[in-house]
Amino acid sequence: MNLIKRPRRLRINKTIREMVSETTIEIKNLIYPLFVVPGSNIKEEIDSMPGVYHFSIDNLINEVREVDALGIPAVLLFGIPSHKDEFASEAYADDGIIQRAVREIKKAVPQIIVVTDVCMCEYTSHGHCGIVKNNYVVNDETIDYLIKISLSHVKAGADIIAPSDMMDGRIGAIRQALDANGYTNTPIMAYSAKYASAFYGPFREAAESAPKFGDRKSYQMDPANSDEALREIALDIEEGADIIMVKPALPYLDIIRRAKDSFNIPVAAYNVSGEYSMLKAAVKNGWLDDSSIMESLTSIKRAGADIIITYFAKDVAKWITTL
Ligand code: PBG
Repeated sequence: MNLIKRPRRLRINKTIREMVSETTIEIKNLIYPLFVVPGSNIKEEIDSMPGVYHFSIDNLINEVREVDALGIPAVLLFGIPSHKDEFASEAYADDGIIQRAVREIKKAVPQIIVVTDVCMCEYTSHGHCGIVKNNYVVNDETIDYLIKISLSHVKAGADIIAPSDMMDGRIGAIRQALDANGYTNTPIMAYSAKYASAFYGPFREAAESAPKFGDRKSYQMDPANSDEALREIALDIEEGADIIMVKPALPYLDIIRRAKDSFNIPVAAYNVSGEYSMLKAAVKNGWLDDSSIMESLTSIKRAGADIIITYFAKDVAKWITTL
């Protein structure tokens, strides 16, 4: 054939392919989520998330040291409290599970960035992300609690806070409270476009945070919507978000791309528990090669994510450094 254009020329060997590669996963953009439980000497694997554990604070410190040694810059903490109530009081207690974990981590591994998830669902007896009245999560009252939680996290030493509740107006309210208390330099990573997703299933097992009645559809977003995600993101930016997030990641790559194209702000994508479990199960069964993991994460980056929150962070860091 008399072909002038032959795209295969640039695929002829690995070196040339890498020279023209458009997307690279870098360790510096990863955040590793961790689950903290009360007690000591606990490292218990989560059934639906092989390779992910519940750690008591003592063992958590070792894990964070390992994460740090791999070059992963940040961890995202979730706490499982010993006590749950209607008001999520352990979520903002000075000696709450997260507050203690943050203090210990910052003492042992001060250079690691500690991001804390600000939400009530792990701490409420009913499992909803706020104060419930007449079977409804009330917005404005919930925000008073989110402020308390945020302040208790930063007082304990959290470097970045990440509100994941999806209440209206919470980013602005939290920003004002942080500033009024002298935390003007603490960034907010807002779960801005957080969908009411079935892919959080394994997390809810891990965090014991499934709602006891109803669902989260009156506050988390409808998976059918895309314009709405842009409205949510725009509001959070206006209210002072420093980083915005799209969650989940893989089923919402179009939203990540729209977010990246529409706003000039760092975009984080949360490769959630269900996305992790799905691939882990397939790889474990030999149904998929484990290169499917890097391929998936690369697609998240290619879609426009600057930061990727993923339970694969440690695996990825190891793969990148041994390549
Ligand atoms: C708390 C929260 C959830 C996740 C992160 N923060 C669960 C939920 O909203 O039900 C899910 C993370 C994951 O699935 O990995 N609201």
